[in-house]
Amino acid sequence: MGLKVTFIDPRGTAIEAEAEAGDNLLKIGQAAGLPLEGTCEGQMACSTCHVIVAPEWFDRLDEPSEEEEDMLDFAAGARRTSRLSCQIDLTEALDGLTVSVPAESNDARRM
Ligand code: FES
Repeated sequence: MGLKVTFIDPRGTAIEAEAEAGDNLLKIGQAAGLPLEGTCEGQMACSTCHVIVAPEWFDRLDEPSEEEEDMLDFAAGARRTSRLSCQIDLTEALDGLTVSVPAESNDARRM
């Protein structure tokens, strides 16, 4: 069964993406053309995959690990519901998930 994920891009435009259970949120966002660099490819060594989860969805995700929390401290524009998208694997329970890609994302191409 396909899942839908909505990304809000830095300009505020909603982009709907199709996904399957088990897909990684970072990969889906990249495939949908969002500016998610994901420099370290999921090693929790960057924070360029930072997204802000819609508050109504945040508590439905698994808790972030301590390493992820530490890395989020370095993420530009981090908020209470920030997560590293590379650490989120989609499940059927996450059908409809909405996340924003912050304008301040550390896109290496702009630095
Ligand atoms: Fe580097 Fe997610 S891709 S922390």
